[in-house]
Amino acid sequence: MRNLTESARLYEAARKVIAGGVSSDIRRSTTAAPPLYVDHARGSHLWDVDGNEYVDYVLGQGPLLFGHSHPRIVEAVNRQVARGQTYSAQHALEVEVADLVCDLVPCAELVRFNSVGSEAVHAALRLARAATGRGKVLKFEGHYHGWYDPVAFSVHPAPDEAGPADRPRPVPSTPGQPVGAADGLVIAPWNNLPALERILDEHAGEIAAVIMEPLLCNSGCIEPHPEFLRGVRERTRRDGIVLIFDEVITGFRLAPGGGQQWFGVVPDLAVFGKAMAGGFPLSCIAGSAEIMRPIAEGKVAHAGTFNSNPVVMAAAAAALGMISKEGDALYEPLRERGRRLAGGIAERARAAGVDVLTAGPGPIVQVYLTNRPAVDDYREYAAVDRARTLGLHAALLDQGINSVSRGLWFLSTAHDDTDIDRTLAAVERVFADPAWQAGP
Ligand SMILES: Cc1ncc(COP(=O)(O)O)c(C=O)c1O
Repeated sequence: MRNLTESARLYEAARKVIAGGVSSDIRRSTTAAPPLYVDHARGSHLWDVDGNEYVDYVLGQGPLLFGHSHPRIVEAVNRQVARGQTYSAQHALEVEVADLVCDLVPCAELVRFNSVGSEAVHAALRLARAATGRGKVLKFEGHYHGWYDPVAFSVHPAPDEAGPADRPRPVPSTPGQPVGAADGLVIAPWNNLPALERILDEHAGEIAAVIMEPLLCNSGCIEPHPEFLRGVRERTRRDGIVLIFDEVITGFRLAPGGGQQWFGVVPDLAVFGKAMAGGFPLSCIAGSAEIMRPIAEGKVAHAGTFNSNPVVMAAAAAALGMISKEGDALYEPLRERGRRLAGGIAERARAAGVDVLTAGPGPIVQVYLTNRPAVDDYREYAAVDRARTLGLHAALLDQGINSVSRGLWFLSTAHDDTDIDRTLAAVERVFADPAWQAGP
């Protein structure tokens, strides 16, 4: 067991002045222990305020493709911060970053920057509604597009509240939604083209945008069936619906050009965040000159005090510069290490008689505690043993391994074979532990 004396003290102090003791709901402790209080981090490791060391597969919930405090990113940020921290005016770095995004991302001819994924999604949906003159958006059950009201529905709904699997109904993710918020939203099941076609037929002429995570990473890690993705592309094109890929996780993580490059299907509009600035808050929308025209001409409002903040842009120029220079060569070792990690966990589970399913293309890995042979959509994800998955996360934290509590693991270029060996040894210890075997 870890010594967490100082973490517990800080948590107690925090709860007196920070609602719930944490600054984002996802940081609430999912275990009996206090949430992680980080002292410092470097490369693929972080250290808590009690001196415990962890191999970090959370990576800030995905942004740290290059690990913590990569020297090039640190140097770029330090250089810029001495030249001013925010201008709310144009500068050369934003042109450099926009050029890099347009070079790397297939759908990008023009971009606009924001700070976080949720507001870029907000901008993309507004643009799609304005461009089509239609009011509704279709999202898929289980997909997460940030915490703003129009999309805070049907992320992890209880299946018994969510309606039929092939015709889900919108389930609010939170109380406090405005009256009628669900009226602007249509929900469809993931990876089910006939159901999607039928739902689109029923809403003919009403849908401005179909938005999706091209690789679903917020309810397990679920790849799109190739025919599903192609079918969505064809149908949205035919109906004049704006196809939006939410690449906040997949962008610059799956491949230099994100999920659209990895899966070979190009959307009309895409949203990026997380990995694009090496751990600094930056997001953007990117699309063809045609689709971006209403923003370019000032007809659709887009704003933000901190948009294209120069310190953040310095980090992005460094991160995207490395991606642009190294291209796919940067990603192959990430995929290989991810495969080794997933394969090693599955092998140790088999040896210990634990039901585990692993998935994910490598830079992202998912570990499900389930005896299902596959997880293909949200309803199947909802049937995996989530309490047991949380239990594995908690037990691994005690062993110095930090993974996302729902079973997701992010890899960075800073992870090496020693990290993977250490992680697999920890997994083996947990699977052999009678206390963990006894279950929650
Ligand atoms: C796919 C996806 N879209 C949007 C968001 C929202 O991004 P942010 O938390 O930066 O607002 C997230 C956050 O995890 C995400 O995973």
